[in-house]
Amino acid sequence: MKKTLAILLAIVAVLGICLCTAGCGTKEKEKLVMGTNASFPPYEFVDDNGNIVGIDAEIAKAIAEKLNMELEIKDMEFDSLIPAAKAGTVDMVLAGMTVNEERKLSVDFSESYAKGVQVIIVAENSDIKTNDDLDGKMIGVQAGTTGDTYCTDDFGQDHVKQFANGALAVAALTNGQVDCVVIDNEPAKNYVAANKGLKILETVYADEDYAIAVSKEKTELMTKINKALAELKEEGKIKEIVSKYIKAD
Ligand code: ARG
Repeated sequence: MKKTLAILLAIVAVLGICLCTAGCGTKEKEKLVMGTNASFPPYEFVDDNGNIVGIDAEIAKAIAEKLNMELEIKDMEFDSLIPAAKAGTVDMVLAGMTVNEERKLSVDFSESYAKGVQVIIVAENSDIKTNDDLDGKMIGVQAGTTGDTYCTDDFGQDHVKQFANGALAVAALTNGQVDCVVIDNEPAKNYVAANKGLKILETVYADEDYAIAVSKEKTELMTKINKALAELKEEGKIKEIVSKYIKAD
C-alpha cells in the first residue's frame, strides 16, 4: 500500500515538472524578427513615443502571436531589407513591399495582404497633369523602390533623383529640387496632408501587391506565415488593422 502511494506520488511529481517546463513560462518565446523601413506611413512609421507602429507592424504582431513567438522589429534602409532577409539577420520583411519578378530571384513572397498604387505627387500649380507630362522632368523617388525602378526604366537615370525615404523626396518637391515624386498612394496621402501646396494626380502609375518577404531557405517559416495570414484574413483581423490606419475616403 505504502509502495503504491510512493509510486503515485512520484508520477504526480514527474507530471508536474513536465507540465511546468511546457507551460509555466520557464522557456522564453522564440523571436520573430521583422525588418522594415519605418518612414512609410501608414504602413510603418515611428510614433510620438518612438515606437514603430502602423499596418505592417500590427500584422507582424498578429502573426507572431499566432506562431507563439515574440516580435522584434528592426528598422533599416529600404535597400537593406532584402539583403537582411537573405543574410538571416531578419526573419521576414514587412515594408509595404511590392511583389515583383526581380525580387523573387532573391526572396520568397507570402500571399499578398494589401494592394498598392504608385501615384504622382506634384505642386498644386504644376504643369504636370498626367503621366505623359513626366518626360524631361526631374522625378524624386525613394531609393530602391518600385517607383525608382519604373521611373529609371521609363525616363532614364538622369531624370530620377533618389532619396533615403519618401519624406525627403517630398521635401525636395516642396523646395523645387524635383518636379514630382512617384510613390505609393497611402504614404503619398500622408505626405500631402502633412505638406502644404501639394496634390496627387488622378492618373496612376502602376498597381501593385504588397507581401511579406522571407529568405528562400526558411520555407517552413513561410508556410507558417501564410497559414497565419490566411487565418487573420478569415477572422477579419487584417481588415480591422487596415481600417484603423486608413480611413475610407
Ligand atoms: N511598394 C514600394 C516597393 O516595394 C515602396 C515600399 C517602401 N516601403 C518602405 N517601408 N519604405 O518598392
